Amino acid sequence: MRAAVDRAGSDSQGRTPSIKIRRVRKGDLSKVRDVIEQAFGDFFERQMGTRPRQVFGGAQYVHHRWLMEPWGCFVAEEGDGKIVGAAIAVTWGSVGLLGPIAVLTNYQNQEIGRQLILAAQGFFEENKVLLQGLATYPYSPRHLLLYQKFGFRPKGLVAITFKPLDRREPSFMKPAKPQLHTRKFSSLEESKKKVALARFHSVTNQIFRGMDLGKEIEIVDGLALGDTLLLEKGRDLIGFAIYHTPGVSEAPQGALYLKFLAIDPRRKRPEDFHHLMGALEELAQSGGLQRVIAPVYTYYWRAYQGLLDRGYQIDLTMVRMKRGKVEDDEDPDDFVLDDWR
Ligand SMILES: CC(C)(COP(=O)(O)OP(=O)(O)OC[C@H]1O[C@@H](n2cnc3c(N)ncnc32)[C@H](O)[C@@H]1OP(=O)(O)O)[C@@H](O)C(=O)NCCC(=O)NCCS
Repeated sequence: MRAAVDRAGSDSQGRTPSIKIRRVRKGDLSKVRDVIEQAFGDFFERQMGTRPRQVFGGAQYVHHRWLMEPWGCFVAEEGDGKIVGAAIAVTWGSVGLLGPIAVLTNYQNQEIGRQLILAAQGFFEENKVLLQGLATYPYSPRHLLLYQKFGFRPKGLVAITFKPLDRREPSFMKPAKPQLHTRKFSSLEESKKKVALARFHSVTNQIFRGMDLGKEIEIVDGLALGDTLLLEKGRDLIGFAIYHTPGVSEAPQGALYLKFLAIDPRRKRPEDFHHLMGALEELAQSGGLQRVIAPVYTYYWRAYQGLLDRGYQIDLTMVRMKRGKVEDDEDPDDFVLDDWR
């Protein structure tokens, strides 16, 4: 460890004096991706004994998040211009999400991670977010302690679930409500997209005051990372789901990745949730994908149970950490899937 720290040129307190934190520029993007993948690759290798061939299974986080939220992306740079750490933060309206954050292994434990977190929190304050959040590894005291120092508290478990699509769906799960239908956001005329964004906001505002996924929906649409599926009954919006498909997106290879799903909390009907999930699974299947990945915060108990009922299996668990509002706002009866990674 000592040798590693020396290689990074630290002072006697273990700090690297020449590190500067600054915002990401376009020319940094591929380097930022490398730094994140190297640091996580090393971490996974230490945890599991083998290095994954692809760190996030092919999922990517840097380019589109920077386009979506350039002011929320930071790098730690050495005097000679070498990028040794990075942090990405986004805002969903009043909710600020931190991650991924990474520091190259040889530069860890020198307060670079702390400086990156401070920069991201400055960005959240500029944007007046009410709640800051992240997802991390519940078994890692190091991660918990690091974030706790910045006011984040560990809350409940997040289950990253998946469903292989090679099995036939039991018939009781088949969409049973002919009056419900789905449409893709990408198929709407430009003028209708604005209206749809306002309707999505009215749904998310019921889940957490001021929460707004508009930027996520627009970047997914603009870069064709996937799409947003609207669940409607007549002209009423019942719910929606933002998903990514493989490419330069957050979907791992072979998977439809569900970034966010919400059924309007004024309706709490399981059949709405199952109709939307069924439509997403069909989309994945017809696109030749092998599985659907659906992260769920277990405080949304009915959504979590609903996924297990549909045959979803848990791939891994993480812990949600929050800073800001101390009380828990989640209604266990709401059908919400929201990935904070
Ligand atoms: C998590 C990560 C970004 C932290 O970066 P870093 O530059 O090493 O962090 P810092 O030096 O600023 O802070 C280290 C803090 O970690 C904690 N820590 C370090 N070693 C620890 C240990 N053995 N036990 C408990 N806590 C420990 C302490 O809180 C320490 O704070 P301190 O300086 O007050 O003691 C970095 O380790 C990393 O890139 N890991 C791999 C990728 C990853 O896991 N990202 C986060 C996913 S949620």
